Parts: sequence; C-alpha cells; structure tokens
Amino acid sequence: MSVQEPRKHKMSPPRTIAVTGGKGGVGKTSVALNLALTLARQEKRVLLLDGDTDLANVSIMLGLYPERTLANVVAGECRLEDILLEADFGLHIVPGASGVQECMDMEPEDSFRILRALSKLESRYDYVITDTAAGLQPAALHMIAAAELACVVVTPDPASITDAFSLIKVLKRRGYRRTPSVLINMAQGASQARSVFQRLDSAARRHLQCSLHYMGGIWRDETLRQSVLNQRPVALLPVSDPSCRQFSTLADMLDVRLSQSPARKAGIAAYWHSVSKRQPARKQKADTAAPAVASPRERCLQAVGELEAVFGQAPESALLRYDAFTRLFALLGRTPDSDTVEIIQAGLGAIDWEPLVPEQREHLAAHLRHLADEIWVSSDASESEQESSQPVLPEPFYDRISFGDQDKLVRVLKEQPSDISLNNFLRSLAGKENNDG
Ligand SMILES: Nc1ncnc2c1ncn2[C@@H]1O[C@H](COP(=O)(O)OP(=O)(O)O)[C@@H](O)[C@H]1O
Ligand SMILES: [Mg+2]
Repeated sequence: MSVQEPRKHKMSPPRTIAVTGGKGGVGKTSVALNLALTLARQEKRVLLLDGDTDLANVSIMLGLYPERTLANVVAGECRLEDILLEADFGLHIVPGASGVQECMDMEPEDSFRILRALSKLESRYDYVITDTAAGLQPAALHMIAAAELACVVVTPDPASITDAFSLIKVLKRRGYRRTPSVLINMAQGASQARSVFQRLDSAARRHLQCSLHYMGGIWRDETLRQSVLNQRPVALLPVSDPSCRQFSTLADMLDVRLSQSPARKAGIAAYWHSVSKRQPARKQKADTAAPAVASPRERCLQAVGELEAVFGQAPESALLRYDAFTRLFALLGRTPDSDTVEIIQAGLGAIDWEPLVPEQREHLAAHLRHLADEIWVSSDASESEQESSQPVLPEPFYDRISFGDQDKLVRVLKEQPSDISLNNFLRSLAGKENNDG
C-alpha cells in the first residue's frame, strides 16, 4: 500500500488516545474514526490504530477492505509501511492493530523489530488514536495503559454504565493512575449526558476513590447511524453539518484536556516494549504440559473468564446478569462480597426505571428486595459480632448520596408487599404520597 508521507516534519512525540468502553455497541469505533477524521481535516497528522477485534471495525466503516494487517507484519510477511491505509484528509490507519499483543509472545529480537518500526511510524504523527475492543481482555487493557489518555465511551444504557464502572475498576486495580475521560454517546441532550456522567463519576469517587473527567456528549443521531451503513463517516460532511460539528467540539475538548498535561516523552511502542520485556519466556511456558486436572482455583478463574465471554456476547442483557448474580449468591452461601454489592448498586443507581416494562420492573424490584435481605442479614451479623455503636456497615457497601438513608431504604424495602407497583414503591422511598394507581 503506498500512502503519502505525513505532511511536514515533526520532532515532538504524538499525543496518544485510546477510545474505549466496557461494552460493545456503545460507539467506540464511530467515535474513534470520526474524531480521527476531524483532527486530520484540521491538518493534524493522525494515525488511527484499529485495535477492534469486532467485525464492525474502522476499515469496514470506511468501506476499505485491507488485504494485510498487523498480523502479517508480525508473521514477518511484510513491513509496517506496507499495511498502512490512507483515508480522507490523509488519515492513516493500521488495520488489525490488536495484533500488537503478539509481540509479547515473540522472541525479543522479533518484537524489537516490530516495535521499533511502530515507534518510528508514530513519531511522524501529532495524534495516535487507538480504537480498542470491548470488554476487559488483556489486549484492550494494555491498549488503554499504552495511551496517555483513555476516552471511555458510555451510553445512557444502564448496562453500559455498569460496564464502564467495571472497566475503570479493573484499570485501577491494575495500577492505572491517570484520570479517565468519559464521553457520553447517544445522549438525548446535554442534561442527560451530564447526569449520566455524574452517576458514573459519583460511583467512581465513592467506590474507587477516583474522579473522572467529563469529555462531553455526542447526541443520539440518525445521520450518524446511517453513515455507518453508508460507509461515509459524518466527519466527511460539510463542517457546518450538525453531525459533523459535534466531532469538532469533541476535538476541541480533547485538545483542552491534552493541554492540561505535558506530552509524554515516548509513544505507545515504548509501552509495548516495556511490557514485552517483562513477560516470562513464553516458549518455555508453552512447552510445559498443562496439568491434567486444574485446581479448584484455576477452574474458578476459568469459569469467571467464560462468564465474562458470555456477557460479552450478550451485553444488552441486564436481566441475564442479575440471574447469574443471584445464582452465584446462592453458591456462595448467599453472602455477596462488597465488590459485588458495589457493582449491583452502581447498576441499580444507573437504571432508568421509566422505560422498563412491568415485568422487568417486577423482576428488578424482586432483586432489590433480595439485596435488601442480604444487607439486612450482614448488618445483623456485624451488629451482634461487634456489640458496639459502630456504624453497622462498612463504608463501601452503601452510597448514601446516591441512594438516600440506608436504614430507611432497607426498612422500606422489607416492608413492601411483593406485588407493589414500582411507581408506588419508588414514591415511598422518596417519602412521597402514594397517589397513583
Ligand atoms: N451517536 C450515535 N447515534 C446513533 N447511533 C450511533 C451513535 N453512535 C454509534 N451509533 C451506532 O451504534 C452502532 C455501534 O457503533 P460502533 O461504533 O460500532 O460501537 P462499538 O465500536 O462500541 O462496538 C453502530 O450501528 C452505530 O451506527
Ligand atoms: Mg467497535
């Protein structure tokens, strides 16, 4: 593939951004591609790394069908330059960039060859943007860690908020220290975008002791949806078009954010180089035969991995998750740990009850009552254990700001008849009159 050299020479390292999100279908690829095109249109040199393992990737959205990807470079079949695609406004794309993960499994000389080429390549650009795969797979987490800025795409869908929370939680657990930026996609308007952000931010502050940065919102937009089908991204429309303008605003927000911290000295290839050096010798590992019977711990870890994969395939099914949670509680002797309760509470706090059909409301209300029982049981237990006037529950169990007074909530939850309508139920929580049918 012959692509034009990026305009002008430059010396400073690129600004690196990973567009990510805990869930598929939230618009990561749409955002990464339109943002990259918008910056390229502003005469910036932009490299887009297509790290999405999904079929609806960057190339497809542009109607480009690459013959070779990074996998071919890794296999030693061609050079990095040979696989570069050129899109409108001189935007360059590396297809199949998730293949960079392979470098960790390679002999040091081989990975060095590829990472040196990547390092040389990225130094020619002002921005390197990665479109990451959904979920919590190691490749996606590494791509986030490799970039100086993570842009977490979230929609008002409760499952998306819960997944973003889990993603941020995993990142923090693994030592991620930077402040993630959050972009609300498919919002109905500015106030909805703000309130979705605030819910996620307050859950993160409360439970993860980390604050988030608000990168703004992209509205739910029929033109954008159609543009994916037509393979003509909205960033190619006239600059005055509202769909296109949203991404200029996003590019401005990004620049403001980036201006708040100095550019890093090295780009993403340096990150991959450092992790590939840390890997134990992979060859040896592969040669060692797997133990005939896995230990219970290994089987548990494997089961968790499989569960993750199932949820990854059905990201829209919040009810499936609740089912899995209840069964797991039963297995665990009905005592969910604080992490589980946190995740459920963040999810419940994020639920927009109004659009739910009565059946779903009942289902969730039943889970709320169940959860209240769990909290009740554990608070009883801790009270009798402590026999003191200490707070009944440790802090992370409950977010008073989002959910109100806990004792009151638990009392009300327990007092509800099982057939109460959810409207009345919520009103009683809020201390309002039951004045509807
Ligand atoms: N702001 C938006 N308004 C309407 N539809 C959108 C918006 N953003 C994304 N979509 C649609 O959602 C679908 C998933 O988007 P995509 O970018 O592939 O998500 P992801 O990369 O997170 O899986 C696509 O069909 C796309 O057209
Ligand atoms: Mg995608």
